Amino acid sequence: MTGAAPRRTGRLEAIDAGVVFRSGFGGRTAKAALKDATLSIGGDRPTIVAVVGESGSGKTTLTRLLLGFQAPTTGKVAYRGVDLTRMDGAGRRAFRREVQAVFQDPFEVFNPFYRVDHALFTPLKSFRIADDRATALALIERALETVGLRPGETLGRYPHQLSGGQRQRVMIARALLLDPHIILADEPVSMVDASLRSTILQTLLRLKDEAGISLVYVTHDLTTAYQVADSVVVLYAGSVVETGDVEAVIRRPRHPYTRALVDAIPSPDPDVPWDLSATEPTEAGTGLPATGCPFAPRCPRAAVACTAGLPPLAEIDPGRRVRCLFPMEAA
Ligand SMILES: Nc1ncnc2c1ncn2[C@@H]1O[C@H](COP(=O)(O)OP(=O)(O)OP(=O)(O)O)[C@@H](O)[C@H]1O
Ligand SMILES: [Mg+2]
Repeated sequence: MTGAAPRRTGRLEAIDAGVVFRSGFGGRTAKAALKDATLSIGGDRPTIVAVVGESGSGKTTLTRLLLGFQAPTTGKVAYRGVDLTRMDGAGRRAFRREVQAVFQDPFEVFNPFYRVDHALFTPLKSFRIADDRATALALIERALETVGLRPGETLGRYPHQLSGGQRQRVMIARALLLDPHIILADEPVSMVDASLRSTILQTLLRLKDEAGISLVYVTHDLTTAYQVADSVVVLYAGSVVETGDVEAVIRRPRHPYTRALVDAIPSPDPDVPWDLSATEPTEAGTGLPATGCPFAPRCPRAAVACTAGLPPLAEIDPGRRVRCLFPMEAA
């Protein structure tokens, strides 16, 4: 990865997208896992968008929606301006190549009976990227080196013969082989130890800076979000409650929930992880019909108006959106 970053223009966006899961007899029990989610990644210039929120807030649901694994119940998800559910074969093929995923536990992605080579050669074959094995191998070796792995010590091994951090980096290398425009990474470092975590996060940053790849970085740890992201999307109980430039959102939170998170930082030391699960119990289990702001029951600023309906995600400053009728002062 040397020289000028290639231009990658694919833009992926969720527009007012909602997901309702139905269960029970006749689907009578409904659960809104995501409501009116809006997020845009890629396009003119590479960025890293962090999606933060406590357990059950809807992060994985949003990721699966953006990958087309889950159809929205309301709203839409579009790539290059085309609704994922209305893409033709060529569009879907381009989407599947240009938008890649890296998950929390790569062990689940590997077939334990195959050497890791299999997971690397297969996408090259299915997308007909390399004509022969030697070309494929050269691409694989380059991708492994990009993520800080030595090909000689990685290829030929079975998944269980690699460490968790190595497996995770093989998965990132696998995503890179397809020359993606966008990578969605759902908790990519939560299973690895602190030293490897920073190595992998540095790799993600380099992918943006040197390869021009945009990333959605999903995490419950605001410290790492702050370290790598340009902008942040804060989820609470399935709702995007605040979005904006990461520095601005964390330095001057405007939604009372984001503010509570910032106040809950145990230490100004950036090496101490800032774990959202350390805050109060979640209200994320709210079932349908959901009326009002989901944070109202915990909010020190809540008023009667807050229970009337989900407040709009209003732009209160350029690039800054807050879903709150009574946002915190800008100071
Ligand atoms: N297939 C499903 N059927 C029913 N409910 C689901 C399903 N998938 C997720 N949910 C519910 O939707 C909500 C959001 O789940 P999601 O997995 O998106 O949260 P998350 O933010 O990724 O949490 P975590 O940090 O624990 O990974 C949760 O309440 C979850 O129980
Ligand atoms: Mg999740």
